Amino acid sequence: MSMTDVRTTTAVVVGRVEEIPMGEGRAFVAGGEQIAVFRLRDGSLHATQAACPHAGGPLADGQTDGNVLVCPLHLYAYRWSDGAATGGTTPIRVFPVRDVDGEVVVEV
Ligand code: FES
Repeated sequence: MSMTDVRTTTAVVVGRVEEIPMGEGRAFVAGGEQIAVFRLRDGSLHATQAACPHAGGPLADGQTDGNVLVCPLHLYAYRWSDGAATGGTTPIRVFPVRDVDGEVVVEV
C-alpha cells in the first residue's frame, strides 16, 4: 500500500442555489457525505460537514457572517476558509462549492 494519500474528489450537484435562502444553510447528502451548504448575504456559497464535531449540532442551522459559521448548540465558531475552530477545538471539514448555472455543485 502506498504511503501517498491520493484523494480524488467528485463534483456532485446537490440542488438549486435558490433552495437556500440568503444568509442561511441547508443540509444535503453528497457522495454519501452529510453536508451543509450556506448562501451568504454577499451571494457566496460555502459547504461544510453537516454535524458539529463538538456534540453533533446541526451546522446548517447555524448563524453565519462573512468569516465564520457559528454552531447553534454551543456557539462554537468555525472559519469558512479552512474549517478551523476559532476557539482552538476540533476543526470542521470544508468542501469546495460553486454555483454552476444556478446549481449547487460540491466537491466531495
Ligand atoms: S454541538 Fe456544536 S458547539 Fe456544541
